[in-house]
Amino acid sequence: MTPSAIVKYLDQYVVGQDEAKKTLAVAVYTHYRKVQTAAASAVEMAKSNILLIGPTGSGKTLTCETLSRGLKVPFVTADATSLAQTKYVNEEIEAILLRLIDKADGDIAAAQRGIVFIDEIDKLKAAEGQPHATSGESVQHALLRIMEGAPVKLGGGRYIDTSHILFICGGAFVGLEKITAKTHAFGFIATSDDQNQKILDRLNARVKPTDLFEFGLIPEFAGRLPIVTSFHGLAKDMLVRVMTEPRNSIYNQFKELLRQEGVTLSIEPQVFEQIAELAFEYKVGARSLRGIFEELMTPVLFRIPDERDIAQVAFSSFFEEPRILRR
Ligand SMILES: Nc1ncnc2c1ncn2[C@@H]1O[C@H](COP(=O)(O)OP(=O)(O)OP(=O)(O)O)[C@@H](O)[C@H]1O
Ligand SMILES: [Mg+2]
Repeated sequence: MTPSAIVKYLDQYVVGQDEAKKTLAVAVYTHYRKVQTAAASAVEMAKSNILLIGPTGSGKTLTCETLSRGLKVPFVTADATSLAQTKYVNEEIEAILLRLIDKADGDIAAAQRGIVFIDEIDKLKAAEGQPHATSGESVQHALLRIMEGAPVKLGGGRYIDTSHILFICGGAFVGLEKITAKTHAFGFIATSDDQNQKILDRLNARVKPTDLFEFGLIPEFAGRLPIVTSFHGLAKDMLVRVMTEPRNSIYNQFKELLRQEGVTLSIEPQVFEQIAELAFEYKVGARSLRGIFEELMTPVLFRIPDERDIAQVAFSSFFEEPRILRR
């Protein structure tokens, strides 16, 4: 798959976030190319691990999981929170690599060229007083080793070399935008025209490694993630699109659910806008959409199994009863 094909594939499931999609697509494609040409190439190519930053419910996990379904490379996802809660970090990390080998059908060579997505990486920030768990910082050190590339011993005397495994890390990094805003470094450049202002805005929107240190990532760890890309908080119009556009959108899911009961569901556009309005207030991105949608649908879902003559349910407002057509 070319980068544009990867983006096109992601577009079917993930709304917006064009910049992040492009960055990921290029990184993954490049990684894949390196894997294919490694034997023939005289130039040893380093990998570029990726850090995804963005507010909760903006599609980070969704994007990576969608990506993992669509790619032909072994791909596993892991959660940094569970790494931070265990006393046996190295065993947990080993388990992640074993899953990668599983995904590659036991082919270690293929697994060594795979992709590992580590979610909730911001939960590894150096924290005070976690008595029985490993501190986030020591997990960062443990991960550092495999991200760097090291032979890891597995059970049965086997080894896996992680030098060419691509690591994608994701996290919400709550509070990072304040740090980034505070450390704007490029305010002093004289700007005379629009073009300069654009360059300035771009430089200032960048998350700098020093911001990540201040947040609580150790410098060596942040340094292993050269590509940083941002997901944006979803505006109301985006939330409407999330409900209606993806192949498996909430609307499509409920339409299908009712279709199986022989009922046609129709919802007018203003209802989605009302739901988006409510969801936006909750400030958890697209995450609250499902709950609000369920609230709308529950009374109908309660009645349908008893009232077999219902043929159609039509909503024209979130706050009013739906119109019900009978056979
Ligand atoms: N851009 C998007 N397009 C389509 N659906 C989305 C989008 N963003 C979020 N969603 C919906 O919201 C749900 C939660 O999103 P996701 O798990 O990707 O959030 P996240 O960015 O990983 O947040 P967190 O930082 O809390 O883990 C998804 O399952 C999906 O249904
Ligand atoms: Mg997530």
